[in-house]
Amino acid sequence: MTDSDLTAVMLIEEQIYPHPWSRKIFHDCLRTGYECRVYEASHSVLAYSVMSAAAGEAHLLNLSVHPQQQGKGLGRFVLQRVIRQAREQSADTLFLEVRISNHIACRLYESEGFNEIGQRFGYYPAKNGREDALVFARPLL
Ligand SMILES: CC(C)(COP(=O)(O)OP(=O)(O)OC[C@H]1O[C@@H](n2cnc3c(N)ncnc32)[C@H](O)[C@@H]1OP(=O)(O)O)[C@@H](O)C(=O)NCCC(=O)NCCS
Repeated sequence: MTDSDLTAVMLIEEQIYPHPWSRKIFHDCLRTGYECRVYEASHSVLAYSVMSAAAGEAHLLNLSVHPQQQGKGLGRFVLQRVIRQAREQSADTLFLEVRISNHIACRLYESEGFNEIGQRFGYYPAKNGREDALVFARPLL
């Protein structure tokens, strides 16, 4: 991902999340040197991921698939690449948070070896107040 991808990324982000990241958040992730990847076909962005890694810990911060491309295996493909990137960065564990209501993502994470290790109460903004996050971890060793 580069700054030139952010218009396409934001078009997806704003369609799939009720509380999307801002363009500035993506820009800051790029500037900080996080692992930001886009997955393209015919020069169109189909999916993207953002991961940070430091001191043996990696954090998956964003995993997103274009709304018309969901359910075709792309999310699993990208997640497997993120796991590989985290290993390449010498992380022992890959962590992530997910909305408790996001059953599709939870199933994907569990099927890729993530374990639920905790819950953060009121972690996300929601339509009526706040929503809890489940915390997942995947050992990489
Ligand atoms: C969650 C997301 C990344 C999954 O990517 P995807 O390409 O749609 O998912 P895949 O086709 O790779 O499917 C992976 C698994 O997810 C689950 N899944 C996918 N679509 C599903 C559906 N419609 N109903 C139930 N489970 C589903 C299944 O467990 C599936 O595994 P299977 O095909 O072996 O049954 C994608 O749907 C997305 O971007 N959603 C909106 C943003 C989001 O929620 N991101 C994650 C935030 S933590």
